[in-house]
Amino acid sequence: MMEKDYTYKVTAAGRVNLIGEHVDYCGGKVMPAALTLCNTIYVRPNGTNFINLAWTDLPVKISIDIDKLDSYQNEKYANYPAGSALMWKNAGHKVIGCDMLHDCSVPFGSGLSSSAAIEVSTIAALATVAGEAFDPVEVAILARKAEHEYCGVNCGIMDQYASANGKKNHAILLDCKTLEREFVPIKLGDYSLVIANCKKPHNLVESKYNERRAETEEALKKLQTVTEISCLADLTPDAFAEVAHVLSGKVYDRAKHVVEECERVRQAAAAMKRGDMRVLGMLLNASHASLRDLYEVTGVELDTLAEAAQSHPACLGSRMTGAGFGGCTVSLVKSSEVESFKLYVLDRYRKKIGYNAEFYDTAIGDGITVTKLN
Ligand code: GLA
Repeated sequence: MMEKDYTYKVTAAGRVNLIGEHVDYCGGKVMPAALTLCNTIYVRPNGTNFINLAWTDLPVKISIDIDKLDSYQNEKYANYPAGSALMWKNAGHKVIGCDMLHDCSVPFGSGLSSSAAIEVSTIAALATVAGEAFDPVEVAILARKAEHEYCGVNCGIMDQYASANGKKNHAILLDCKTLEREFVPIKLGDYSLVIANCKKPHNLVESKYNERRAETEEALKKLQTVTEISCLADLTPDAFAEVAHVLSGKVYDRAKHVVEECERVRQAAAAMKRGDMRVLGMLLNASHASLRDLYEVTGVELDTLAEAAQSHPACLGSRMTGAGFGGCTVSLVKSSEVESFKLYVLDRYRKKIGYNAEFYDTAIGDGITVTKLN
């Protein structure tokens, strides 16, 4: 591949969520950050009616017809780009024929939002190659629509929003009810964020995800019979305690997680602003425990990885990040001890699980970037 053969290089980020897990679709606040791991698209106009897709690491080439964008839903590699292009087009934007070479450094199935990075970069590349300006918030909303309506995952807005709107060295404190946002500088003092993948083979994530979502919707409906709220995130933990008697079993547990996780996000944002790493670490640990015990989205692999991290003296806190059921953890670790921390965690993880976890070398980067090549 020669960069000079293409007109633009467009990237969109993977993301790590620092805290606020499984609350975006309940109207809560989340605190993700864009990563320098990203999907890059090299793009050039081709004067045809087709978007020709190719990948740097796959021996596959697929051409999608701009007039039949709705017919690629079952195409393994083309569905995300085609769905994104369709949503962009249906929103009234221009889509022109082009060649797109994808180069993705976000590991697939890692819980770091490779799919959001693909959707968002596809739309940004289509806009750019057609000479249109784009609004990253609209890009995120349409990318998520593609995920819902084309790819069948009933996700919240967090991943696509972070992928499109991230800012170098900042977390995004995003209110998923109003889409108001605040960039919070990631100033961790002597500490660093360390991301590890438990490498559990992914299965059934989507159906379990949709099931959790349905449980929170059931909780909301029941709570609305006794209190006036529009989403679970409207309840403080105290207000929840007063009305929670209408819930029972798993549905109670799921709602309790959401309400308490929203409170942890408030506290974590405050802790980050005042540089209180100890409190931030404690909140990460509490979030993981709640995702394990109340929301039940961790599993032995993520629990082992988080617990190994938490037991290291240089680690202030560790939690799973993303949808769960596999994927990654994020840990807050004293910068000078990161290497010994990694060895320690790898060793404990391998002894219990039987295979290796993997650490990623990445940093907090920007959302979408566009570079003119020619
Ligand atoms: C996935 C979804 C997000 C969010 C997280 C859990 O990443 O795409 O919308 O719900 O899970 O916090």
